[in-house]
Amino acid sequence: MTKYIDTKITDKETEHSLPVLDGTMGPSAVDIQTLYTNEDMLAFDPGFRSTASCKSAITYVDGDEGVLLYRGYPIEELAEKSTFEEVAYLLMYGELPSETEYAQFTDTLGDLSLLHDQVLSFYRGFRRDAHPMAIMVGVVGALSAFYHDRMDMSDPEQRELAAYRLVGKMPMIAAASHTYHIGRPIRYPRKVLGYAENFVQMMFGKPHVEYEIDPILVRALDRILILHADHEQNASTSTVRLTASSGANPFACMAAGIASLWGPAHGGANEAVLDMLTDIGRVENIPDAVARAKDKKDPFRLMGFGHRVYKNFDPRATVIQQSAKEVLNHLGLDDPLLEIAMRLEEIALEDEYFIERKLYPNVDFYSGIVLRAMGVPTNMFTAIFALARTVGWVSHWLELTAEPHGIDRPRQLYVGPTLRHYPK
Ligand code: SDX
Repeated sequence: MTKYIDTKITDKETEHSLPVLDGTMGPSAVDIQTLYTNEDMLAFDPGFRSTASCKSAITYVDGDEGVLLYRGYPIEELAEKSTFEEVAYLLMYGELPSETEYAQFTDTLGDLSLLHDQVLSFYRGFRRDAHPMAIMVGVVGALSAFYHDRMDMSDPEQRELAAYRLVGKMPMIAAASHTYHIGRPIRYPRKVLGYAENFVQMMFGKPHVEYEIDPILVRALDRILILHADHEQNASTSTVRLTASSGANPFACMAAGIASLWGPAHGGANEAVLDMLTDIGRVENIPDAVARAKDKKDPFRLMGFGHRVYKNFDPRATVIQQSAKEVLNHLGLDDPLLEIAMRLEEIALEDEYFIERKLYPNVDFYSGIVLRAMGVPTNMFTAIFALARTVGWVSHWLELTAEPHGIDRPRQLYVGPTLRHYPK
């Protein structure tokens, strides 16, 4: 007889009740920690669709209502009124910084934005055509070799220093992944510049000519960084938390997060969106692409559509769609891929298949258009996502390491061979 779990499980001898935990917002959670001990039974949830892996106070997502809050503040308000540095402080510390706190925060990030000169030699070990994400996974993981002296994670000060080093150095690591790839000298950050501004000058600046920073593009990038900074327990953040639970050092944890983000179903989607739009090529080819996306025999998916949590519009997509139009107008660009994107969105949103499955454009659908308009090469899109999400990963890492609960170790429903012995 199948036993169903609800707030009480009963069997012949004993009866156990499972407490229901309430958060400050969103769904409650049935606390099943005693399930295995008391009932010798596991909960089965392979995609974690119905599983809360932890308690967190950082980001709240309501997929049905299309709501995203960073420490309680709506993403739309932060994208319009805040800066990435201020959002980074908010995610890491839980409150918006005072003027003094903001000045100290940005000053420390600036002081720690330089890479150890020997780290730069790692870049030369990569083939020139290495994907920037491959370089970032390697270089970020290798930072453990440079800061092993200050790696006592039970010390809050050393945890904070590691967090600052990661957030501070990521722009140079990401930008250097691009300049190395194209054979241009790696550039250094300038402390006088803001976070997004510095990344832009390290990405696009050349040693032999003065680089004029376009404030409109910097603002667009700053907004993209804000929108991508955190997103509760997504695959890469959960990877960081699982890695951190074993006590691995913060640089190894972030390298694991970068590796997970790289997948096309996750952070790699923005690059995949551009590749898809390029393959579609013309508005006339959209119906065929939509038909392929609906065909179960065809592995093709509409990149940039759908989301594990959002079954409504991704609020970030709405903000980025506006950014895409602003940047293209500012640059006087008439990007045919944006036209294909807008038409594809229209067609998909009218199609029963997408409506029925609540498949809406997600943040990645438009971010690639903005980045492409800014002259960012497609293979750098996910690297920029990683640059932004480092703040989220670091914030979750700080939250977990402040109150470590021991190693995370999921179980399984075993469906393999039963006991058998080696033939004599
Ligand atoms: C990000 O988790 C996060 O928070 C992630 C992120 C973040 O900030 O960290 O928001 C960033 O990763 C955004 C998502 C970017 N990925 C893509 O755009 C890739 C394309 N999208 C799909 O791969 C898919 O939608 C997922 C992976 C995003 C979500 O997949 P789900 O929730 O597991 O959905 P599903 O596979 O259960 O699909 C439900 C149905 C299926 O059809 P049926 O079996 O019911 O007939 O919808 C279909 C799927 O085939 N479907 C799609 C589709 N996505 C789902 N069909 C065509 N095109 C798609 N994109």
